[in-house]
Amino acid sequence: MATMATEILAYADAARAEMAAAATLAELDRVRVAYLGKEGKISTALKGVGKLPAEERPAVGQAANQARQLVEAALAERRATLEAEAAARKAAAGRIDVTLPGRGVEVGHLHPFTITMQRLVSIFIAMGYEVVTGPEVEWFDLNFTALNYPPDHPAIDEQDTFYITDDILLRTQTSPVQIRAMRQRHAEDCPVRSLGPHVPPLEVPSHCRCTPPPIRVVAPGRTYRRESVTLTKGDIFHQLECLAIGPGITFADLRGTMTAFVHEFFGPTTSIRFRPDFFPFTEPSADFSVSCDLCGGDGCRFCKFSGWVEIGGSGLVHPNVLRAGGYDPEIVSGFAFGFGIERIAQRRYNIEQIRTLYENDMRFLRQF
Ligand code: DAH
Repeated sequence: MATMATEILAYADAARAEMAAAATLAELDRVRVAYLGKEGKISTALKGVGKLPAEERPAVGQAANQARQLVEAALAERRATLEAEAAARKAAAGRIDVTLPGRGVEVGHLHPFTITMQRLVSIFIAMGYEVVTGPEVEWFDLNFTALNYPPDHPAIDEQDTFYITDDILLRTQTSPVQIRAMRQRHAEDCPVRSLGPHVPPLEVPSHCRCTPPPIRVVAPGRTYRRESVTLTKGDIFHQLECLAIGPGITFADLRGTMTAFVHEFFGPTTSIRFRPDFFPFTEPSADFSVSCDLCGGDGCRFCKFSGWVEIGGSGLVHPNVLRAGGYDPEIVSGFAFGFGIERIAQRRYNIEQIRTLYENDMRFLRQF
């Protein structure tokens, strides 16, 4: 039957066209099922051959077989093409471009503040100093009274100090560690060692029979002030306190020690300047500055256009302070100095704003 055979061959042409258009293996399979599947158009036609009159069967059967072969051949060919394309795509996707820069593993490093602190401490250790610490929550009497502050000193004002109770505060300076260090150097059974924080009378207790040894200590630590935050000041900051006590210590020792320290920390070309100042716990007292490197001494915002950056205070330990520590000012003398650690980190690493030290901005921290 010519029409039936023609119809079957038309199916084959349609199937081949659809296969050629199939863009994926899944689409190709859908075409295969539509023509060659159990219910597919060509399969269904083949099944119908049996019901035809005997004389028509050979022609239709032949057409159906031919159609199936054509479609199967087209199917195999298209499948091979699509598979090759898929493989090529996969290979391209997985290719390693050896010219791309590698992805580095980031290794962390210490915070610039920590680096500064460690450098400071190691310089003093190399000069024979011992590192001591004291509590951040401190007795009023150790923070002020034992350090010879008069009761009406403005720093005692609530505007400058964070009080916890009338007797207890957040230390405003590391200087109270001076008193603690002195007292701790008395004999185990000496009453001075167990002296409470409440200091008056400011005199060597007559019941102290020991001869406390010379002292060379540095005390780094966190300090607190009720202050508004500026370029160089914060309300939480850190100080490093230095105390040396022994027979015959003079201002020359203070100056020599500070100069050695400044040259080691900032470099040998840095100048240091002392100016008379007042602190209750030293007599005489001097503030000290180092030459400003941020502007090379020409003057900038950081040095307030003076070419000098004030670093801290210093002086010879006041006799009353020695007494509060149980040391006899008739026998020994000492020097002390203290400075803000942030301030010198700023000067050392050219950091204009103090708060960048605490913001944890990686763009800033990565520079160190
Ligand atoms: N404690 C002082 C302050 O916070 C700094 C200071 C000045 C410490 C003189 C000292 C010193 O040891 O002798 O401003």
